[in-house]
Parts: sequence; C-alpha cells; structure tokens
Amino acid sequence: MSASHPLFVVLAAGKGTRMKSSEPKVLHKIAGQSMLAHVLATVSDVQGDVAVVIGPGMDDVAAEAQRVTPGARVFVQASQLGTADAVLAARPALDGHSGDVVVLYADTPLIRPETVARLRAALDAGANIAVLGFRAKDPSGYGRLLTDQKGTLSAIREEKDASEAERGIDLCNSGVMAFRVPNISDLLGRIGNANAKGEFYLTDAVEVGVRSGLSTAVVECSEDEVLGVNARDQLAAAEAIWQARARSRFMEGGVTMIAPETVWLSFDTQIAADVVIEPHVVFGVGVTVEEGVRILGFCHFEGAVIGKGARIGPFSRFRPGARIGAEAHIGNFVEVKNTTLGPGAKANHLAYLGDGVVGAKANVGAGTIFCNYDGYAKHKTEIGEGAFIGSNTSLVAPISIGAGAYVGSGSVITKNVSPGALALERSTQEERPGWAEKFRILMARRKATK
Ligand code: UD1
Ligand code: CA
Repeated sequence: MSASHPLFVVLAAGKGTRMKSSEPKVLHKIAGQSMLAHVLATVSDVQGDVAVVIGPGMDDVAAEAQRVTPGARVFVQASQLGTADAVLAARPALDGHSGDVVVLYADTPLIRPETVARLRAALDAGANIAVLGFRAKDPSGYGRLLTDQKGTLSAIREEKDASEAERGIDLCNSGVMAFRVPNISDLLGRIGNANAKGEFYLTDAVEVGVRSGLSTAVVECSEDEVLGVNARDQLAAAEAIWQARARSRFMEGGVTMIAPETVWLSFDTQIAADVVIEPHVVFGVGVTVEEGVRILGFCHFEGAVIGKGARIGPFSRFRPGARIGAEAHIGNFVEVKNTTLGPGAKANHLAYLGDGVVGAKANVGAGTIFCNYDGYAKHKTEIGEGAFIGSNTSLVAPISIGAGAYVGSGSVITKNVSPGALALERSTQEERPGWAEKFRILMARRKATK
C-alpha cells in the first residue's frame, strides 16, 4: 500500500438541522470562505485524491467542491444514515484506491495541514486506524475516546450512547480518522446501527476493527483546531479562533495592529510588512495591502489593492476593483469602486470615485462625485495626471479631464476638459452692495406691524 498517495474523504451530506438555515451547513462561511472550502484547502497541498460526500439535491455543495478542488469526485449519500454510511457512499473511490484513507468532516473547518500530517504519520508508525482526539473543556456533544490502562484506543462512544462514567471522559473524537487497512469498505460494512440514533457510526470502525485484530492510535491536537460547527454559536466561535490565528500570523509577519481584536480578515487577505492598522478595520475577500501602508480607523475593504506607502482613512470604503497607487491618500468618507488611482493621487474627503482612472498626483476635492450611472449603464471617468478637481464637482461620465487641468469648485462637468485648461460651470456671481442691511430693516418693520 502506498502511503504517499492518500484518499481524502470529506463528509458534507449532513442536513445541518441545528443551523436552522435554508443553506447547507458546510456552505456557511468562516473568514469569507465556506467551511467545505477550508477543509479542502487543508488537504490541497498533499498529493492525493479527494472525494466529497454530499446529500441529495446539494448541487451547490457539489459546485463548491469542484470550484475549490477541480479534481474532486463527488458522491451522493442517498439518505443520511450516519457517518459510516456516508463514507461508504464514496465506495467507488474507496474500492479503486490502494493507499491510506483519511476521513474529514466538512463541519470541522479549522484543522491545519500539519495536524493531518501528524495523524498520517501514526499510520507510518504502525497503526491501522488513527484517530485525531482532543481534550475538551466541555466534552458534551462529542464522541468519547475509550482507552485501556495502557492508553490504547478500544472504542469511540457517542455521547447519546455513553454511560455516566464514559461521559466523564474528556478525551474526545475530532471526527478526523485515518485508515491503513486491507479493505476499508469491508471494515465499514461490518458496522451496525444498534445505537441511540439508529445510525451507522464511522466511529464504530474502531471497535469493529480492534475485534478483528487491527491496531489503533490516538493523535492529540488542541481543541481550537477541531471545533465542530453544528449551530450558529459554534460558527461564531470558529470564526473567532480563525481570526485570532490570522491576526497573529500577520503580526509575526511585521504588521502592526493597535487593537488586533477589532481587525477582521478574510481567508485570502494579504498584508505586507510595516503596514499599520488602527482599530476597527474590516478586510473582505480579495484584498492586498502593500508595504508601509497606514490604515486609520474604521475602514472597509473588498476586492482592493492598496499600493506601497498609501495613507488610508479614517472611514474610507474600498469596493471591488479599487486600485490605489503608491503614496496615494484616500481620506474620510471616500468610497472607491472599480477605480485606479495613480501614485500620489489624493481624494481626502467625502467623495465617490466609481468606474474611473485618476492620474498620478491628481487631486480630487471634497465632495467630488463621479456620476457613473445613468440607471442603465456604467460610464467611465478619466482624470489626467496632476489635474485638480475643485470641491463639490460632479463629473458626469463618460468624461475625461486632461492632464494638469483645473476644474472650478461646484461645477457640473458634462464635456471633456483639455489638458492644462480651466473648466468652470457655474453662473456668474452677482453682488448688491448694502442689500443685507436694507433687508434686515424691512423685516424688522414687518415684524413690528404684526
Ligand atoms: C461526529 C462524531 C463524533 C465527533 C464529532 C466531532 C460520529 C458518529 N460522531 O458527531 O464522535 O466527536 O463529530 O465534531 O461520527 N454526515 C454525513 N452523512 C451522515 C451524517 C453525517 O455526510 O449521514 C456528515 C455531516 O455533514 C458532518 C459530519 O458528517 O460534516 C459529522 O456529522 P454530525 O452529524 O455533525 O456528527 P456529530 O454529531 O457532530
Ligand atoms: Ca458535527
């Protein structure tokens, strides 16, 4: 049997009733990515085959599996008769496979590749069945690992079937199990369903296996890594663990976070060294922040690239397609969507920059709006290098402002502006000397005669 080419079977067929959701449980997200994708990503670095077991009609789960792992084979478990039955749903993959088999649960998303490797190493060390266990602060709901005096695993007891004494055991089953057995389908086929739930438990593979002379091993990991998500509170707990891990990873990589517990990251966030992040910042999916950027408080990012040394915030919003050049400044209450800003460009206050290109060192004044949408289509705004857009300007797209041009404050610009020109669009100011004083006297008289 080749240990180097394992088969990973990921179970995702459960209905997830305790989530009380119209969406399958394993599609619920942690750090912007489905739990199923987290598990598939964990095994993606290993050369091996992947089988995902889903329930009937879970087309979106199948699509997600194939999106993340294009080579994954998807099997449908006809009815949810338990975890052993679920693994057997992947029988065509099991029977055509001669190496190790590793079973993971898609509702246990925080497991790390190193830990899966440690579990597999137990097979190399001689075990036929290796179980990933953990010491639970509160073991309720988990299967308990029953060991003899020598610490050898003899069975796994589900909570509902456990005696009072067995419930006192804090060594729990994570759900991750690895097998190096001659015929896993045969082993799982011998599991019965005479238990509290009337289900075919994968966990019984231990007891059945031991009875026929197979050896077992327990590999322990930290509870944080194998939190099982059955309900929304556990989803939130898993998110918190993931976030804490990711923040530490970034801080180790040279990122300063003044209040790390208020910074929210996504599975694919990239932040370079010497970036400083003030409190209350959210990174949605698809964000890259280059070296030396300073992000002031309360900013929100999604699908954005922030160039070296830029100064961002406070209170700025970046939507998909925002590309901010090096040393650029984006200030408070500025929203940027599908817009590229050249190096050193500035939009410091209260602006909407949508579907545009802003040249290097251009200055976009307070209150500037790129009027990009006419109710039917989006249009482009181009601002040349070094142009100056006065405050409270509406740029009605499609529109182009030439390099170095000036646009006077308060203008509604509907025609292209040539490079170096001044464009003004506002009526001529009129002045009436002494008018104010006369007006006040008139008003005071009116009031007195009432
Ligand atoms: C399971 C384990 C328990 C362990 C816990 C860890 C069993 C019998 N129990 O309990 O020992 O401590 O996980 O979190 O395995 N699934 C299917 N088809 C089914 C039933 C389940 O695909 O017929 C899938 C689910 O989608 C889920 C996983 O298997 O991803 C585990 O099922 P779940 O019902 O959540 O088991 P637990 O009660 O949490
Ligand atoms: Ca579970």
